[in-house]
Amino acid sequence: MEIGVPNESAGGERRVALVPEVVRRLTGRGGHTVVVEPGGGQAALIPDSAFEEAGATVSPDVWEREVVVKVAPPSAEEIGRLRQGGTIIGFLNPLTSPETTRALAQAGVTSFAMEAIPRITRAQPMDALSSQATVAGYRAALIAAQELGRFMPMLTTAAGTVKPAQVLVLGAGVAGLQAIATARRLGAVVTAFDVRAAVREQVESLGAKFLDLGLDTDAETAGGYARQLTEEEQAQQQKALNEALSRFDAVITTAQVPGRPAPRLVTADGVRNMPHGGVIVDLAGETGGNCELSKPGETIVSDGVTIAAPLNLPSSMPEHASQLYARNVMALIELMAGEDGALAPDFEDEVIAGACITRDGQIVHEGARAAAGEPAST
Ligand SMILES: NC(=O)c1ccc[n+]([C@@H]2O[C@H](COP(=O)([O-])OP(=O)(O)OC[C@H]3O[C@@H](n4cnc5c(N)ncnc54)[C@H](O)[C@@H]3O)[C@@H](O)[C@H]2O)c1
Repeated sequence: MEIGVPNESAGGERRVALVPEVVRRLTGRGGHTVVVEPGGGQAALIPDSAFEEAGATVSPDVWEREVVVKVAPPSAEEIGRLRQGGTIIGFLNPLTSPETTRALAQAGVTSFAMEAIPRITRAQPMDALSSQATVAGYRAALIAAQELGRFMPMLTTAAGTVKPAQVLVLGAGVAGLQAIATARRLGAVVTAFDVRAAVREQVESLGAKFLDLGLDTDAETAGGYARQLTEEEQAQQQKALNEALSRFDAVITTAQVPGRPAPRLVTADGVRNMPHGGVIVDLAGETGGNCELSKPGETIVSDGVTIAAPLNLPSSMPEHASQLYARNVMALIELMAGEDGALAPDFEDEVIAGACITRDGQIVHEGARAAAGEPAST
């Protein structure tokens, strides 16, 4: 395969789709050709020379390649530069950017969205949502530590003892579990809550306490995800949480229900109940926020509580975020390579079919079809 790696043009995007370590494997054992746009790794502090040493060619001529790999969705102008019949792999926002999907179909491009990779065991090496959520959870704990006007760990000093910070993590999926582990490493006493009862064991295995809100709801679906709570359940949860919040110095929220706006966990009353100097880090800003007062992309102070709702946290740690993402992309490329290394995706394969958004001028992904206002295919 001939693989092109363009510069990421989206504002603030510092990741790059392939890193030298992965290029070395693709060009070596894989026998593929990799072309990286000059400066492609610059924002991730990877010089062009490192890509060249790993076996890539550095050239502006990347868009016409057989397979183009990206992190953020391509702009309309970039889609226009893709070759007809070519392939693109990247985050494509298939459920929220129907204009991108339509443009890819019209351009005759076969597209694979990294966020559409089915979350099944076999596809774990390709699960870019999880790899990037790991980065986000880690960063969220660091932001909480940074914004707090107090220590995370307990300290015994000549000036007396300092109590450890009490941190609450709401939503214990991939990002939440990493936030728990990181806050624990920083020395905080960590408590967590999730609507899926099965998560209690994972929370406790990380040395955190599970918050008992006195609700007897287990909102886990057959697919392993959380369902949306009923209005009554949500009101009960908010009320119980509002009371609990007075005990926590920092709250990290990571709750999400796939395809739905972020569940509202922390209300304005809940914020008022927190101690002055408290901090909320809301990871769900992109889908509306888990906290009623969050302003996506901003950090505000309300009633003495700092509320941060950072966006695109993985981009703030571009070296490892890119490395993990590149490994996810490589696993998908390897799955689509025939024995001779040529591009030969098996569209009967559940992973390849699940991730494919457009093909032969059509939108083939059901969720993307619905988002683009097209009827379900028969
Ligand atoms: N801001 C960023 O830069 C950034 C980066 C990556 C991910 N994220 C966001 O972080 C969030 C978590 O991502 P993830 O990959 O860990 O998702 P995930 O699906 O693995 O975890 C979400 C968790 O929320 C739980 N949940 C759902 N409803 C709840 C409720 N009402 N109360 C408590 N828990 C509830 C689910 O059971 C699940 O465990 C998402 O909103 C995602 O978009 C943000």
